[in-house]
Amino acid sequence: KTRVAVLISGSGTNMVSLIAEGRSPDSPYEVVLVVSNIAMAAGLEKARAAGVETAVIEHRPFGKDREAHERALDALLVEHEVEVIALAGYMRLLTPWLVREWEGRMLNIHPSLLPLYPGLNTHARALEAGDAEAGCTVHIVTEGVDEGPVLGQARVPILPGDTPDVLAERVKAAEHILYPRTLSDFVGRLHS
Ligand code: GAR
Repeated sequence: KTRVAVLISGSGTNMVSLIAEGRSPDSPYEVVLVVSNIAMAAGLEKARAAGVETAVIEHRPFGKDREAHERALDALLVEHEVEVIALAGYMRLLTPWLVREWEGRMLNIHPSLLPLYPGLNTHARALEAGDAEAGCTVHIVTEGVDEGPVLGQARVPILPGDTPDVLAERVKAAEHILYPRTLSDFVGRLHS
């Protein structure tokens, strides 16, 4: 199976669904490592509970040197013979250096129907705009933030009375189905 690392900063619900799918016998990948830049990220405990190796590489000690932080991260990934990176709520902008190192082998999930609403606060912006639907996108990571080639999208309705939090939960439920499926398809194609 293709060795995947999942990078998180927060609750890690997408990470949980990626781990679970990777364990199904038909899956072409397995999650071998979860890395967080935040020591308190709730997702770390979930990964440990699932029996997946975890690591914390905080960005703070590196100060403004983003690339030094990423070199430490990259060294860890190489050490674990990681082949594909899945960003799952990893809330750091990446330097061109890391993006090039992992070109074509790093995926991200973003909580909007890209190219709509790159960046932050996607759900508030979709509600503000009066959109009828929202969704999520899995894409290949390129240097432009949330700009890489789209591998898959899922749509959900926006309902009367939705708040950003309520909409976020509906979108997340869709993410948990979309991301494992899209990662499996991607990894399957990598080796064919
Ligand atoms: C997800 O909704 C993901 O799409 C989003 O953060 C959430 C992480 O949730 N990612 C971004 O906003 C990336 N800029 P999780 O930690 O429960 O998977």
